[in-house]
Amino acid sequence: MSQRRLLVTSALPYVNADIHLGYMVEAIQTDIWVRFQRLRGALCVYVCADDTHGTATMIRARREGRTEEELIAEVHVAHEADLRDFDISLDNFGSTHSAECRSLCGEIWSRIREVGLVKSDRVRQLYDAEEGIFLADRFVRGTCPKCGAQDQPGDNCSKCGCTYSPAELVDPRSTLSGTVPEPRDADHLFIELEQFHEFLENWTQGSGALQDETANYLRGHFLGPPDQPEPLRDWDVSRPAPYFGFEIPDAPGNYWYVWFDAPIGYMASTQQWCDKHGENFDDWWRSDDCEIHHFIGKDITYFHTLFWPGMLSAAGFTLPAKVHVHGFLTIDGEKMSKSKGTYVKARAYLNHLNPAYLRYYYASKLSNRIDDFDLSLNEFVTKVNTDLVGKFVNLASRSAKFVAEIGLSAVYPEDGGLFAAAAATGDEIAEAYESCDTGRAMRLIMALADRANPFVEENKPWELRKDSERLSELQDVCTIALNLFRQLAIYLAPVLPRVAEQTGELLNSPITHWDQAKVPLTGTPVAKFRHMLKRVEEKDVRTMIEESREDTGDQGRGEGDDCRGETGDADPWNDSGDALAAEPLAPECNFDEFLKVDLRVARVVAAEHVSGARKLLKLRLSLGGGQYRQVFAGIKAAYEPDELVGRLVVCVANLTPRQMKFGLSEGMVVASGPGGSEVFVLSPDEGAVPGQRVH
Ligand code: 2FM
Ligand code: ZN
Repeated sequence: MSQRRLLVTSALPYVNADIHLGYMVEAIQTDIWVRFQRLRGALCVYVCADDTHGTATMIRARREGRTEEELIAEVHVAHEADLRDFDISLDNFGSTHSAECRSLCGEIWSRIREVGLVKSDRVRQLYDAEEGIFLADRFVRGTCPKCGAQDQPGDNCSKCGCTYSPAELVDPRSTLSGTVPEPRDADHLFIELEQFHEFLENWTQGSGALQDETANYLRGHFLGPPDQPEPLRDWDVSRPAPYFGFEIPDAPGNYWYVWFDAPIGYMASTQQWCDKHGENFDDWWRSDDCEIHHFIGKDITYFHTLFWPGMLSAAGFTLPAKVHVHGFLTIDGEKMSKSKGTYVKARAYLNHLNPAYLRYYYASKLSNRIDDFDLSLNEFVTKVNTDLVGKFVNLASRSAKFVAEIGLSAVYPEDGGLFAAAAATGDEIAEAYESCDTGRAMRLIMALADRANPFVEENKPWELRKDSERLSELQDVCTIALNLFRQLAIYLAPVLPRVAEQTGELLNSPITHWDQAKVPLTGTPVAKFRHMLKRVEEKDVRTMIEESREDTGDQGRGEGDDCRGETGDADPWNDSGDALAAEPLAPECNFDEFLKVDLRVARVVAAEHVSGARKLLKLRLSLGGGQYRQVFAGIKAAYEPDELVGRLVVCVANLTPRQMKFGLSEGMVVASGPGGSEVFVLSPDEGAVPGQRVH
């Protein structure tokens, strides 16, 4: 069989921000997949780059009194170091501000022009005369044109949820200069995406490149049903000067919008790698023999699944074999927040904790679905200590030292089928990795650890070593234990590359291929055991959070200082009492009373806005087995319908149905928070399934 060739990418981090634990979800997910493929024998090239262009870079460089190039160079070093220190095995980390990217942008642009996809149109934008720039949405704030809420962002209202363009805001202000911006017209260049409609309908719905959730999202939001297609909107891909980017050769004074050149950055980074390694670019981007896999977060689905394949097909490049989309990270149930210290930069983590911990924790939480997932700091500590240290590394630490002088037995001893059973599970684990269901892979691996540990406990090598007559028995027991450990180390190698390396050194046999888990290792010397992973210390997690809380400028520093004084060691999470004070506890109820409320796990299978309703979303909940509930929930200001689809929630399943103005509501979704945009829908932990009762 010929060798599988893969080109893999993670989304490009913006040059304006440090890498944080949210981005690390993607980098770690991609890296695990890449390392898995390499371990299976594929030729897998993994590239990424800094996303450098746009107004934000220009503004920051201006504020810091340096050139954009200086800023880019400094951030590049920091980003690359963060990724390397998390063991992200990139083959090339490039930049969109590179000669390769400029040249590829030009090539693709000419092709798109040639086939008649570009048109020009006049666009009204807000212009900050003091700063001398057109304002992107995020640089404008003002009063919501619909509900009158003040100080709202340029694209949507955080109070009533309506969307608008910045020019529609009442009393708009530039966040850069504080002045009132003026509307100005300029010519922009557009790509007529609708010309790709039929192609995109087929590619998104029928090629197998997308998860079902992504395909459904695209149909629901952009493409429309096949018999009633919705026209795709033209895509504005140019910005008038001043703008930091590449000037468009045939439209002087205009620049490609950052999102035009960002995905071309994948190609530019590949080109750099090819140049360094004597490879031919077309073998990677214009060849049926190479699969291209993009890993992205759900917020940039549109660009990667409509615009990007359109450009690729127009310019004659290979289409992605798969776009793997993941959900967002919350930390302790909340969006990352600077004041709470949960906006944790990669470097702050690395200053205190071993990257292996986070790699394993993320692996255990990620699946091939697009659900958001939570980094619960308590669970993080427990999971790593229980699984990695307690179940996995302990297998080696309790056996290796007893055979350091004699090595492994020459013949693999009878082990009651343990090795063979773990070898047979290899295919299932591989399938889970292949489909990015690393949560399942980790569960399968830990189930094997749960079978290996009793073997060691029952055979007690620490007792056997006391009896010189039982040396050969000791060697056999340790040979089995170390082989079971090695199998797990092979299966975990994509997640824990350093441990895999140490295992190779310990047993004098480097881990280089997945299939090594099928054959026991015998007769090799065993090196002196060196600790592989120590337990996570809660105090290190605490210090990391404290350090992140301090990293917030003046306001955050004050808050951080006060909190540290008050809390001491007992409760590092330092939760405020405001919520409890706002809504004191209800009178006591007994257990029978509690049981009257039948809470069930349910999956949101559809969610939509309700015409005329200010606060409500209409949800269709599945309790499994074909049982559904229609629920109107007052969560419109806090959630977009598509964020909810697929997600597990808790619903009150036996509430008397209520006829509302918009239809029958057959239950409630359980949520916390004071209301408006501050509503937080509760989700069960991973493993729960629809229909389960919540006790
Ligand atoms: O959303 C982002 O962070 C972008 N910088 C991702 C770009 S990915 C790709 F298209 F280049
Ligand atoms: Zn509003």
